[in-house]
Amino acid sequence: MQIVNTVQALRTLIHTWKAAGKRVAFVPTMGNLHAGHCQLVTAAQQHADKVVVSIFVNPTQFGVGEDFDSYPRTEAQDQEKLQAIGADLLFLPSVEEMYSPTAKTVVSVAGLSELYCGASRVGHFDGVATVVCKLFNMVQPDVALFGLKDFQQLTVIRTMVNDLNMPVDIIGIDTVREASGLAMSSRNGYLTPEQRQTAPLLYQSLCAAREAMVAGLDYMSVEKNALSTLQNAGFQPDYFHICRSVDLAPAQQGDTELVLLVAAKLGKTRLIDNLYFTR
Ligand code: PAF
Repeated sequence: MQIVNTVQALRTLIHTWKAAGKRVAFVPTMGNLHAGHCQLVTAAQQHADKVVVSIFVNPTQFGVGEDFDSYPRTEAQDQEKLQAIGADLLFLPSVEEMYSPTAKTVVSVAGLSELYCGASRVGHFDGVATVVCKLFNMVQPDVALFGLKDFQQLTVIRTMVNDLNMPVDIIGIDTVREASGLAMSSRNGYLTPEQRQTAPLLYQSLCAAREAMVAGLDYMSVEKNALSTLQNAGFQPDYFHICRSVDLAPAQQGDTELVLLVAAKLGKTRLIDNLYFTR
């Protein structure tokens, strides 16, 4: 696996691949790689000849008081994992390489970015859309892969790609879960042993909500019950919403493609999860 730190070196290498007719897949990450990320790389290998992975803890998607400084940075282990699964190129830029101090442009997917996680993490999705747009311009991938765990992020990125006619196919890959059902996340490492016992309830609340919906309970009661279950278990729930999966608008009875979205804090750790299903 080759490792580059500059946009110029990245472009030179990718240019030679493209000139040789190779198809390029891209997996953007913030590092601290777990089985979910490895799954993205493995899936990427099915869609292209070359797989590029980026590791960049993007400051513009963290709000004031969030965990930018403490976000786990595990470059050596990440490199070993990527090498072992056969990634072709790792892009490891510095903040200075990614952002000029005079930069003025922000990519913002209006409306969608202010809902749900965007309401609690103001500016978060503008930071995500801007860095993903920049990374796409740098890598110019044919296809890019993202985890379905960050369902709202994936919807923001799909919307951006569609609205701005970006020539890249976006593929969402299923969430990888621990045996307990807890969705894999770099932030799980913040949980204490006791919180780890409680954390799987987040996914259980999604499964219970789906069952209640299938049994015919009205959506408002399903959301209310899920919030109180989480609260009683020691979470500080942020939201629990039943949405249309296509645009994340609140679901109406009769909608068939649904996603349940949840975010809750356990101590200081903010966890998110979701469940997609059709009716
Ligand atoms: O999901 C992530 O790890 C990040 O939000 C992403 C897409 C790499 C952008 O920084």
